[in-house]
Amino acid sequence: MTAPSTPCALLVTGGAGFIGANFIHSFLAANPGCRVVNLDLLTYAGNLENLKGIEGNPSYRFVRGNIGDAALVANLLKEESIDAVVHFAAESHVDRSISGPEIFIRTNVLGTQVLLEESRKHWQSEARPGFRYLQVSTDEVYGSLGATGFFTEETPLAANSPYSASKAGADLLVRAYHETYGMPVLTTRCSNNYGPYQFPEKLIPLLIHNIVARKPLPVYGDGQNVRDWLHVRDHAEAIEQVLKRGEPGQVFNIGGNNEWKNIDIVNLVCDLLDERLGRADGENRGLITFVKDRPGHDRRYAIDAAKIRAVLGWEPSYTFERGIAETIDWYLANQEWVADVTSGAYRDYYSSQYGERV
Ligand code: NAD
Ligand code: TYD
Repeated sequence: MTAPSTPCALLVTGGAGFIGANFIHSFLAANPGCRVVNLDLLTYAGNLENLKGIEGNPSYRFVRGNIGDAALVANLLKEESIDAVVHFAAESHVDRSISGPEIFIRTNVLGTQVLLEESRKHWQSEARPGFRYLQVSTDEVYGSLGATGFFTEETPLAANSPYSASKAGADLLVRAYHETYGMPVLTTRCSNNYGPYQFPEKLIPLLIHNIVARKPLPVYGDGQNVRDWLHVRDHAEAIEQVLKRGEPGQVFNIGGNNEWKNIDIVNLVCDLLDERLGRADGENRGLITFVKDRPGHDRRYAIDAAKIRAVLGWEPSYTFERGIAETIDWYLANQEWVADVTSGAYRDYYSSQYGERV
């Protein structure tokens, strides 16, 4: 059982999305006796299928609603005696932020401000000494690196896309609530996640989906952009450690020390799927199509995760070899889930993003 001073009644926002759902699964499994209230608007990215198996768990409650609804947030904090907010809810896809930035500001900046403000009132009025607010942020707030170097927690924010700018705006509000009101906040900034339940607009599930369907694999620009990839369960574990043991006011970078050029990841996924789908060696690589680059495309992300290792003893548990193999197998075994999330609106999105590019 969890010690009484550690947060045990959580308001998780965006828990029907990719990382939030993985976090809820692992948190409830690892913390018997604790409760999770999941507040999610169920946008195109939210899917209750991601939480299959825990709907009937008495420690879990789902509430469909908007983080920007102050009255709803206030009620939930009070009636559920919440002692920690873990804030995942966001518009999360860079390409969508380029074609339609407004919702990113509304959800990621204004929505976060409402959540922070209601959390502050709850924390102050209920005089909860152990209360914590954790902001799930991203390494993208630091901007782009050249060929060398790493983002540390001291790297200045220099966001380049409407998505990362909206996340950076939210991070600064979180910081302000700590500096101004002394609110016990924590911020995590993680690199690119992969794993089960990721919406196939993001690179890895999009590749798997297109390869299965023998569709072109769009590689932006020269394919030499670099990302650091971390398995989503390692991210979820890091967030739990920060929530329980991080000192309020602190920022923690989270990364996998696992840098890949996009084209190398694409080749790897192609080859692993040649094998699994019984296709000839190199067949899937034939689907690779270089397309017009994403505007403002950050060249390289790389995380220095020394702080979370030293302060909290967190380490990734997945090797990339195991994580990517399990992820591909999960998508192959869950074709119904994929079919479900890629029907309807996904098709419209896909043709508007890629129609002229591939
Ligand atoms: P996602 O797009 O899969 O899920 C977002 C969830 O938020 C969805 O369930 C959606 O319905 C919900 N949501 C959106 N607007 C809402 C609103 N106004 N009110 C309530 N719910 C709302 O995103 P994800 O990939 O799981 O990312 C979760 C968080 O982690 C985001 O804050 C993102 O910035 C951050 N992050 C993501 C990555 C990554 O690689 N995916 C890496 C680092 C940080
Ligand atoms: P993405 O999964 O969108 O994550 P982010 O932009 O937040 O890093 O993209 C990962 C990398 O893959 C990024 O450099 C853009 C590139 N990419 C492609 O080359 N083709 C695609 O179809 C997508 C979705 C991404």
